Amino acid sequence: MSQATIESILHEKRLFHPSEDFSNRAHIKNLDEYRQLYDRAKTDPEGFWEELAETELHWFKKWERVLDWQPPFAQWFAGGKINISYNCLDRHLNGDRKDKPALIWEGEPGDSRIFTYAELHREVCQMANAIKELGVKKGDRVGIYMPMIPSAAIAMLACARIGAPHTVVFGGFSAEALKDRLEDAEAKLVITADGGWRKDAIVPLKDQVDKALEAGAPGVENVLVVKRTQQEISMQPGRDHWWHDLQTRVSADCPAEEMDSEDMLFILYTSGTTGKPKGVVHTTGGYNLYTHVTSKWIFDLRDDDVYWCTADVGWITGHSYIVYGPLSNGATTLMYEGAPRASNPGCLWDVVQKYGVTIFYTAPTAIRALMKLGEQHPDARDLSSLRLLGTVGEPINPEAWMWYHRVIGGGKCPIVDTWWQTETGGVMITPLPGATPTKPGSCTLPFPGIVADVVDAEGEPVTDESGGYLVVRQPWPGMMRTVYGDPDRFRRTYWEYLRPQDGNPIYFAGDGARKDEEGYFWVMGRVDDVINVAGHRLGTMEVESALVSHPAVAEAAVVGCPHEVKGEEIVAFVTLKEDLDASEELENELKQHVVNEIGALARPKEIRFTEELPKTRSGKIMRRLLRSLASGEEISGDTSTLQDRGVLEKLRGG
Ligand code: WTA
Repeated sequence: MSQATIESILHEKRLFHPSEDFSNRAHIKNLDEYRQLYDRAKTDPEGFWEELAETELHWFKKWERVLDWQPPFAQWFAGGKINISYNCLDRHLNGDRKDKPALIWEGEPGDSRIFTYAELHREVCQMANAIKELGVKKGDRVGIYMPMIPSAAIAMLACARIGAPHTVVFGGFSAEALKDRLEDAEAKLVITADGGWRKDAIVPLKDQVDKALEAGAPGVENVLVVKRTQQEISMQPGRDHWWHDLQTRVSADCPAEEMDSEDMLFILYTSGTTGKPKGVVHTTGGYNLYTHVTSKWIFDLRDDDVYWCTADVGWITGHSYIVYGPLSNGATTLMYEGAPRASNPGCLWDVVQKYGVTIFYTAPTAIRALMKLGEQHPDARDLSSLRLLGTVGEPINPEAWMWYHRVIGGGKCPIVDTWWQTETGGVMITPLPGATPTKPGSCTLPFPGIVADVVDAEGEPVTDESGGYLVVRQPWPGMMRTVYGDPDRFRRTYWEYLRPQDGNPIYFAGDGARKDEEGYFWVMGRVDDVINVAGHRLGTMEVESALVSHPAVAEAAVVGCPHEVKGEEIVAFVTLKEDLDASEELENELKQHVVNEIGALARPKEIRFTEELPKTRSGKIMRRLLRSLASGEEISGDTSTLQDRGVLEKLRGG
């Protein structure tokens, strides 16, 4: 499709409607149904969620209260007893779903495995017993540092089964970053693998765990190691245990622990505006309900679907929409270890064809990368099984939307552009595919029960299309409960950033957006110091702290600069300590230093050495100027607060 056609579609504000056939079979069939649900949830949120909790989930004991809201702290279904691993597994074992594929897994080298619900249940029970044997009790934290193999999901479900909160650390994080997270969570056990496959190479995960534990995290008593890549690794006697050894010994009988609805389910670290990642805490009952209902209505899950989310389990999308949401619904969820690579640029489409994938959920950055690889790859495969597509992670540019719609969806699949965050637990603003007409680039309308708005700094609604802060006005079951170990940071960061005149607390977590005349939301990206590199969230301060921890660096300022495929890339402005000279060698050393401190995902594209950074008179770095410089734009706007205008000239000069 030519650029002109895309522009004319956008200009005409063309709506894309689901086909009649799709709508007729969907859970939510039209906008009227959506509006009824939305209005009901808005006027009686407790009644709305209570009814769903009763009909959609299994509870060992009913709750005492639906919602206890002491802003900003919410408790959902407190007093209720529940286990999310029971809801994801045991309750599907009584009927036909017992022998239905729960998890389809495809490894990068082409090996594969399918677990039925009965088989997955068995493995989870075994791993739960192994974890218990390694001294983990209800309430103890477990670190999970895994490749994209079934054991990652099994480990999460095993922890949930015995009530041990997990903290999954993305396999792309460095040993140093892993250590920080294990320490903050005070983890007792780490579950890992010898390695994982990534673009035809081995990622040596166990080596990284060894390094992390050498450097710190003294609370970790044991390491459970799954064999995946088979290379030689070192095993420390007494501390490190092979899963395949333990598996032969442990029983497959492990009843699910009756958890309180508000017991912690997991901690997931995410970047914010300080150097220290936040441990986002999610609890059990509300999260189970929210991921269940959003999965069901947004992905329109049916029993014959093969559902595939390409995220990594180390991110919230993997938690909510590879593991918990789909399995709670008794769906078939697919997990793939690989990524498009030189040896097989069309591997994703091979997987769609091989398993007859019906629902495909990925990120805009992946779509743009796939566009670049060319249409010949999808064209050479049979993608006719697909009926629904989704995106998450950043605003999707209309060109990528149109390509996804036409080339992957064959022009017939609705696209759900889902806006949400680690903090929200599940999707917040999204089309319901059988009901909501879509506009390329808009995540459309709030999910029932989500009272979202665009406001100014005083919390007043912005009524024209000029844009403002994207906020949520009422608590919802999937919301984060606190920052692990730092409730005050939770309050300050999310609930006190904006000061509404009426004094009612509102949730704001960093995005700017605008609303069009039909009430459709258009997310414009982060308005805080968080950057989004290939769908990965990074705090500029985090990268800056990594840089200044290098002995040569006096000061650093990091900004995001637009990139065609990745969305944004990192550009760092660095001043060196006295007497030190800039060199290409030092530039490479600093880049590698950031990789060691955080992980390859944070490697700066460019480091610009400078004698000084532009600052305000009060000493604040003027990032706005640096952003313009990094992306080669003209410096516009007010520079009168700049302390020393000469700095700007020097920076321009290179
Ligand atoms: C961005 C990922 C526009 C946003 C689930 C948010 C999006 C951050 C969308 C959260 C979308 C996510 N449209 N922007 N559909 N989805 N974002 O915590 O800036 O890794 O604040 O959660 O991603 O990233 P996180």
